[in-house]
Amino acid sequence: MKKTFKILTIIGSPHDVKSNTRALIEDFVEEISQKGLELEHEIISLGRKKIDPCRGCWNCTYERPCPINDDLTELKSKMIDCDMLILGSPVYTNQVTAQMKAFFDRLFTWCHIYPLLGKYSLSAVTTGNDGQKETAAFLEKMLATYGTMSFGSIKSMGAFTSGFFPWRNEARKKNKKLAQKVANTILEKKIPPPRKIQRSIFKVMKNKMSGIHTINCMKYGVPAGQPNPLKAKVKLINYLFRKMNISDKQIEKMAGYLPFELSWWRDRNWLGAKSLKQIMNQPVPNEFDVKKRLLQL
Ligand SMILES: Cc1cc2nc3c(=O)[nH]c(=O)nc-3n(C[C@H](O)[C@H](O)[C@H](O)COP(=O)(O)O)c2cc1C
Repeated sequence: MKKTFKILTIIGSPHDVKSNTRALIEDFVEEISQKGLELEHEIISLGRKKIDPCRGCWNCTYERPCPINDDLTELKSKMIDCDMLILGSPVYTNQVTAQMKAFFDRLFTWCHIYPLLGKYSLSAVTTGNDGQKETAAFLEKMLATYGTMSFGSIKSMGAFTSGFFPWRNEARKKNKKLAQKVANTILEKKIPPPRKIQRSIFKVMKNKMSGIHTINCMKYGVPAGQPNPLKAKVKLINYLFRKMNISDKQIEKMAGYLPFELSWWRDRNWLGAKSLKQIMNQPVPNEFDVKKRLLQL
């Protein structure tokens, strides 16, 4: 049986059907569907969901449940199950809305583990007349951080107040070509071209996780099946710790930093990887249940 392609759109607008950002995305998805792609499109407006701001307790990184009980689990589950994630936001004072930012903050651990690795994605931004570039860049960064493969950003100005979007037709025309490219790429089961930001995010993440792994190994030894830390790295860390007078207690705390994320990287055998492409081509180990791990927090 042919599988329906699932697109999930999450919009940071407080508005639902009146949202300009929703209109921009709906037009785009309609263009995609004209290429014969059988798809299901669900749109969720964060303004219609309860997503409280992060309380900064760090529970999630220690594999302890989040103290907030709201709609986040439902959204997480939908993101894990979709084939393509569209993140959209209106520009509010030069950035995404507070609702969108709260949503990202609550997905703190997701910033270190490529939870949506290999899924297609797109970002969308509407605005009166400015702020679209930085807002789109931020959404693109988050999509890359989650491991998705983005087709880029669709943006429109001339969306003055919600429901008053005189530039709408112009935006649809402008985005038609990209929509066709998206549809073809999906139908041909190809991946969008790599982006520079993906490379820099991989570097940052790999450095962070292998740094924690190294300090951990220095303190407790190398766990079976895990790579030996680089000798040069151990030497450098020892040198820095001495120079900065880092105490044993502080080292112990650093070794225990981001344990949820470290076990993710270790159990997926990512610590020896040299590129994002390499981890994308690596199969998920049989005993590693992505959804269960992501939903337990
Ligand atoms: C609180 C608030 C802040 C806004 N800030 C900006 C801004 O900095 N620059 C701008 O050009 N438009 C700004 N706008 C206009 C919205 O970005 C624009 O109307 C958008 O299309 C609304 O999208 P929505 O209907 O999906 O909520 C702002 C609107 C509101 C309500």
